[in-house]
Amino acid sequence: MKKIKTAIAGTGFMGKVHTENVRRLPNVEVAAVVGSRPETARKFAEAMSIPIATDNLNEVLANKEIEAIHICTPNVNHYPMSLAAIEAGKAVLCEKPMTMDVEEARKLVDAAKAKNAVNCVQHNLRYYPSVQQMRQMVAHGDLGEILIVQGTYSQDWLLYDTDWNWRLDRKENGPLRVMGDIGSHWMDMIQHLTGLSISAVCADLAIFHKERKRPKGSVETFSGKKAVAQDYQSFPIDTEDFGAVLLHLGTRARGAFTVSQMSAGRKNRFAFEIFGTKAGVSWDQESPDTLWIGHRNEPNQIIVKDASLFYPEAGAFADLPGGHSEGYDDSHKQVFKRFYARVADPSAPVDYPTFEDGLRGMILLRSVAESAQKRAWVDVPA
Ligand SMILES: NC(=O)c1ccc[n+]([C@@H]2O[C@H](COP(=O)([O-])OP(=O)(O)OC[C@H]3O[C@@H](n4cnc5c(N)ncnc54)[C@H](O)[C@@H]3O)[C@@H](O)[C@H]2O)c1
Repeated sequence: MKKIKTAIAGTGFMGKVHTENVRRLPNVEVAAVVGSRPETARKFAEAMSIPIATDNLNEVLANKEIEAIHICTPNVNHYPMSLAAIEAGKAVLCEKPMTMDVEEARKLVDAAKAKNAVNCVQHNLRYYPSVQQMRQMVAHGDLGEILIVQGTYSQDWLLYDTDWNWRLDRKENGPLRVMGDIGSHWMDMIQHLTGLSISAVCADLAIFHKERKRPKGSVETFSGKKAVAQDYQSFPIDTEDFGAVLLHLGTRARGAFTVSQMSAGRKNRFAFEIFGTKAGVSWDQESPDTLWIGHRNEPNQIIVKDASLFYPEAGAFADLPGGHSEGYDDSHKQVFKRFYARVADPSAPVDYPTFEDGLRGMILLRSVAESAQKRAWVDVPA
């Protein structure tokens, strides 16, 4: 079997998750890593046994043997790195949120089209098997017409003013922080599941810490808790710690969700409920193999992931039998599997999130920002 050589840009949380999970595919080899500094790249490459380590993206892009690249760097780098990779003829898998703004996202969509580049934005959370079962239940009409969606994406890792990450700096993150980081997943998910587009938003954003204490060194995602509090400098905060959004979906459905990085005890609570004219479903990422199904005139059900009992289209996203849990890592693998099937064979289906989905996400974020700023409902362009 011919192995596809790929590269990873970014040596933090996602750099590691992508490296480990892409290696679960039999036909892909991680040939290179791009770090922010030669030393960071070298350390990562040594720890992960990756042959090429560099801080120079162009070196990797010039390597004809490397066919694809994963962009796992802070948001500000997504656009220039993805664009350079597309222009160098690589397939590109970029982390979310895809870019800093709508204009950048549109340019990436156009560039990928012009170069016929295989492209993907990493909305991996769609691909838990139980979530795919919800999607098939909606598609098969089990829920009836969708009327109500609701939920949250709540975390606590930025609760204290001493918690620090690059996401707190608008120059690296973009203008929306929690909305961009995890609200982007929530909105992508609800559209993916219901097949409805978010058509209007009314958003309220809050900054609880107007100033935070920035450590003088750099801090990788989720590692701030372990840092020793010393040598901080005060940093003014201009992106939200919390957000709440009312939604219209399609022409009739309504909904609401909150996002937070300051909800003590909620580590990664990505939860949503969908209610239709016949039944409801509810799911929470913190127990991903369990799916609640709600009925009006018969007992509610809690079903456990089991591909053999799911719709076949949903079962295709489970690689292990019932009772053997599949979680966050597996959701990444499910995207990679499909993305690399397409890299290997251009006639393979595009059954993964693309730059078009990333652009849609950026349009939604822009509407959320506009609504919060105006303190009013904003229609989202179709
Ligand atoms: N899909 C998901 O579930 C998920 C989860 C977390 C983060 N993300 C996304 O992944 C991206 C990275 O987030 P993270 O949490 O891994 O951050 P992180 O801080 O842990 O890692 C970022 C890495 O990028 C490196 N870097 C910075 N500038 C660089 C450059 N110019 N060239 C090469 N490397 C550079 C940093 O040194 C660091 O190692 C973000 O866009 C984030 O939104 C996605």
